[in-house]
Amino acid sequence: MTARIGILTVSDRASRGEYEDRGGPAILDYLNAVVATPWDPVSKVVPDDQSVIEQSMIDLCDHEKCCLIVVTGGTGPAARDVTPEATEAVCHKMMPGFGEQMRAVSLTKVATAILSRQTAGIRRSEANCALIVNLPGSPKAIAECLDAVFAAIPYCIDLIGGPFLETNPEHIVAFRPKK
Ligand code: MTE
Repeated sequence: MTARIGILTVSDRASRGEYEDRGGPAILDYLNAVVATPWDPVSKVVPDDQSVIEQSMIDLCDHEKCCLIVVTGGTGPAARDVTPEATEAVCHKMMPGFGEQMRAVSLTKVATAILSRQTAGIRRSEANCALIVNLPGSPKAIAECLDAVFAAIPYCIDLIGGPFLETNPEHIVAFRPKK
């Protein structure tokens, strides 16, 4: 089966059509450039509502069978920023290294990177298992953050029983420890 990757934009205004979603397309462009294995995107745009975000993540993992779900937006300190809470609620195992590394790299570029609570985790259900990675809402943040962690994502997906993802080495060299 072709690998499936979820792209979830969390934004009240984009979900109401008040502005165009730029984050989801930026994730799609990034993955098209980096992922060499054939894959299909499954995209959604939802408001900053915790239960809606949780349901979307569950749907992308359990029903759409995505091995990776990349989420943009809702990671900051404002009252309606609840993407990390939704991620924790649907994941069985948190992967805090992703957030640590993305913030560390982002802080070399912008002081407000410290305001993102972005995290990652593994959702495991009877139907499927997925790595969920949060990114900030700024479209500029997407490549900065994914470049910081993507080398480790294919092996993470191997370890959770997902498809073998290969990357385009001119963008990202996937790291897999030698057996
Ligand atoms: N990280 C990177 N790499 N680039 C950015 O522009 N913006 C920051 C931060 N992380 C930013 C970044 C800002 S201004 C905020 S408020 C937080 O992410 C949270 O953004 P979010 O609530 O849209 O997810």
